[in-house]
Amino acid sequence: MALRRKREGEDDAGSRITPTLVLAVFTAVLGSLQFGYNIGVINAPQKIIEENYNITWKNRTGEFIDSDTLERLWSLSVSIFSIGGMIASFMVGVVSERLGRKRAMVMNNILAILGGGLMALAKLGKSYEMMIIGRFIIGGFSGFASGLVPMYVGEISPTKLRGALGTVNQLAIVIGILIAQVLGLESLLGTDTLWPALLGITMVPSFLQILLLHFCPESPRYLYIILNKESKAKESLRRLTGLADVTVGLNEMKEEKRRMDLEHKVSILQLFRFRIYRQPLLIAVVLQLSQQLSGINAIFYYSTSIFEDIGLKHPIYATIGAGAVNVLSTVISVFLVERAGRRTLHLLGLLGMCLCALLMMTSKLLVERVHEMGYLGMVAIYGFVAFFEIGPGPIPWFIVAELFSQGPRPAAMAVAGFANWTCNFIIGMSFPPIEKVLGAYVFLVFAALLLAFTIFTYLKVPETRGRTFDQIAATFRRTPSLLDHEVKPQTELDELNQDLYE
Ligand SMILES: *[C@@H]1O[C@H](CO)[C@@H](O)[C@H](O)[C@H]1NC(C)=O
Repeated sequence: MALRRKREGEDDAGSRITPTLVLAVFTAVLGSLQFGYNIGVINAPQKIIEENYNITWKNRTGEFIDSDTLERLWSLSVSIFSIGGMIASFMVGVVSERLGRKRAMVMNNILAILGGGLMALAKLGKSYEMMIIGRFIIGGFSGFASGLVPMYVGEISPTKLRGALGTVNQLAIVIGILIAQVLGLESLLGTDTLWPALLGITMVPSFLQILLLHFCPESPRYLYIILNKESKAKESLRRLTGLADVTVGLNEMKEEKRRMDLEHKVSILQLFRFRIYRQPLLIAVVLQLSQQLSGINAIFYYSTSIFEDIGLKHPIYATIGAGAVNVLSTVISVFLVERAGRRTLHLLGLLGMCLCALLMMTSKLLVERVHEMGYLGMVAIYGFVAFFEIGPGPIPWFIVAELFSQGPRPAAMAVAGFANWTCNFIIGMSFPPIEKVLGAYVFLVFAALLLAFTIFTYLKVPETRGRTFDQIAATFRRTPSLLDHEVKPQTELDELNQDLYE
């Protein structure tokens, strides 16, 4: 304990927010902004683009498209984004090591420009193939961004500010979603003539990012720990901290490198083979599933049509409301996450979402008879989004980093990312047809899944806040299996671990 306190004291000199740091974080999160934008952008113009597909089909075949084919084409356009993301998230590790964090971000923008360009020209080219390939490529961009941005921001931030600056990333994503929803308004870009601009505008932050990255320093951790270039790392630290003497920061990295050298890098195969990783890996993957299978993306991708179904007159405004609720609750969760435990917040979030899903079902079932039920549905969707950002939104991501130490962490992140994007794809693809079959009861399915995830979290997920990796790892060695009733009280375990650690 004494050791930790001393190190915090030392950090004070290097935890100022400098202009270079602000510029670098701002520049990096332009990538997350685009990631969010492309999640949200597909929502409002669904009808218009579908009509366009219909006309294209008529021009090619002489007949109007049948509704099943149209639905399948549209679901594919929405969810192929996740396939791109899935592939890219697997390659983040290699690319960021080969090219460096900065150059990897510069190169990634090529994908954004290519993808955005294809989508923008799809109408002119009379081709839904262009649209689908564009969505695939922009998904690839997003997959890279979702790995590279937090990595770079984490590596350039002083230890004390790491948590706070890390949440800027999440905030940029939800703001991106909101911008997309606002620009998608019919009075702005959500029209028959302007929707290509709505999709193509994602290229703008890319050009800005390419320009600004030029003035940002490369991550000192990349320069020192991976490339072993001490003087360059020092130079980067100087720019980021604004200090002439960067010994403290350098020593911190030396310590990190020493710890990394002690621990072998674990491959994905080894991660699955070794028993000690089984429990944390199961938790990491199930938490990712709990995020995606909660149905949140059904809301982000299809909320306009859901609001329409529950009888709201101006569904697009309700969608923008959901975006605003999303941003607000993300801001709130930033404050909550360091005060309440991860486990508690995740449980609270899942339970709240479960309840809201049941309310959505109720309102959809009754709206035919009682018109006011539509508003209950709207409130339920807002609650659903708010509870999501309190727990299941942010927590699965950083709990993976907390459950694994340096050696197995990259492999664990890759597996978790893969699980996340796969479920994202499944939801995007299957929501419309399942909703068609089940109607309002589709929300019952989400409620049941949410309940199952709540129970799993209650039984299996340890609290990680304020604990070291050794302490967390010790929990897994001690916590008996699900069937074992003799689980020691958590506080007792904590004390035991504390003793071991000290
Ligand atoms: C395609 O467009 C025609 C003409 O506007 C319309 O009658 C038909 O319902 C559309 N098909 C679908 C599946 O929306």
